[in-house]
Amino acid sequence: MDEVTLESPLDMHLHLRDGDMLAVVAPLSAADFAGAVVMPNLVPPVDTLAALMAYRARIAAACDTTRFSPWLTLFFRAYGYDELAAARSQIIGVKLYPEGVTTNSAAGVRDLHGIDATLAHLEALGIPLLVHGETHGFVMDREREFLPVFRRLARQFPRLTIVMEHITTREAVELLGEYDNLHATITLHHLLITLDDVAGGLLQPHLFCKPIAKRPEDREALLRIALDGHPRVMFGSDSAPHPRSAKEAAGCAAGVFSAPVALPALVELFASHNALPALQRFVSDNAQAIYRVTPPVRRITLARAPWRVPDQYGAVVPFGAGTSMAWQVVART
Ligand code: DOR
Ligand code: ZN
Repeated sequence: MDEVTLESPLDMHLHLRDGDMLAVVAPLSAADFAGAVVMPNLVPPVDTLAALMAYRARIAAACDTTRFSPWLTLFFRAYGYDELAAARSQIIGVKLYPEGVTTNSAAGVRDLHGIDATLAHLEALGIPLLVHGETHGFVMDREREFLPVFRRLARQFPRLTIVMEHITTREAVELLGEYDNLHATITLHHLLITLDDVAGGLLQPHLFCKPIAKRPEDREALLRIALDGHPRVMFGSDSAPHPRSAKEAAGCAAGVFSAPVALPALVELFASHNALPALQRFVSDNAQAIYRVTPPVRRITLARAPWRVPDQYGAVVPFGAGTSMAWQVVART
């Protein structure tokens, strides 16, 4: 097959940033995707309805939101029921970061035992909980060490939709099978790279992200459920742009900027495994069912035709910069 059309592809984990960066990256996602779950880790975090509405307006000024739905999230803190009820129609979920685990998470949760009242409100209101599931342990073990928290939440809040964001380990894949209210996003880069690609040769700052890419067997486990179109698994790029100067620096910022190459790379990956029929589920249908959202109707057609990934978009170096990719987007409606 040399042409593929995806119906309303969705990116269920995206960093759009703000200001000049928003102006560069939002049109790139809006070109290829019909909707995206937008992360709230701005400085300061998006944790009031007023801040969220203002951010929505800035996103709308940066791209065409009639063709691209930005589904916004609130940054987790202790919220009252009324506050969440008032925000409910404006948000797709609430994103929980443990304090200090990643970029702009200083305002995250310090005590994971103190969150139950807010979680009960989310459950009662039918608002999904999105979680960056890492501890402060040894970097390769952080996700695995966090899994007991997911287990507790899944048991204690059986009607809460819980999304394990950007999973990277075989153990997280296994946990998904244990509870029906657990879901997961998987990034493009975690389907393609392991720690060896990041640090096995010359250090590759543009592949450095949180959670860090893991072992080959972890990538295999992620690939298996993605290529199967597992119903509780969704594509979430975690495309997280930082200026080149912040990546190619002593103290490299975490984040892989993959939005502009995500669809071509996903098609190439699924095609190489003879799994193209599952891609529609992974990149749209599952997310629509899990979040009960209806995106704008879009058709994005890709063809097998090589192109060279640009070295930069604005000040940001994309995943695969300068390499040749086998598929490209040839039509967008
Ligand atoms: O690598 C990452 N970058 N992981 C995250 O969790 C946050 C993100 C960012 O905002 O830069
Ligand atoms: Zn993220």
